[in-house]
Amino acid sequence: MNKNMITTLTEKALAARRNAYAPYSRFHVGAALVTEDGQVFSGCNVENAAYPEGVCAEAGAISAMVAAGGAQKIAILLVAGKGPAPCLPCGGCRQKIREFATQRTCVLVVDESGHPLFEDTLHALLPASFGPENLETGADKNPL
Ligand code: THU
Repeated sequence: MNKNMITTLTEKALAARRNAYAPYSRFHVGAALVTEDGQVFSGCNVENAAYPEGVCAEAGAISAMVAAGGAQKIAILLVAGKGPAPCLPCGGCRQKIREFATQRTCVLVVDESGHPLFEDTLHALLPASFGPENLETGADKNPL
């Protein structure tokens, strides 16, 4: 894995983490991703007084990617939380990443100082998953 890219993603995720809006949990999270064609996007968690309406940092980074030009394949998604326990993506975020993942997509987690805590594939975090291919049923041939 490209070391310079990991450094860039770590810096972007930590910068986004500094902007996290987390007045309720006080758990600040940043995320940064790089697409397979080299574009970098970041996001932070944004909580809400209506607690369930809060949005995770990973979801913010994915929204930024899509807003910038549409669906992309994610090469690496890096999460910056607070250690020592790695801030692994929640189940909902694993599924959100899955939408834009390949078998090679990697998830990295660093702590608040940027020290690496975890690295594995999205596939390892969400095996036997449901994805866009499941809906490729030849809809054009069989309009509802
Ligand atoms: N959170 C994230 O943004 N990403 C994660 O991977 C785990 C949790 C946020 C959601 C909530 O704002 C706060 O962290 C505490 O759960």
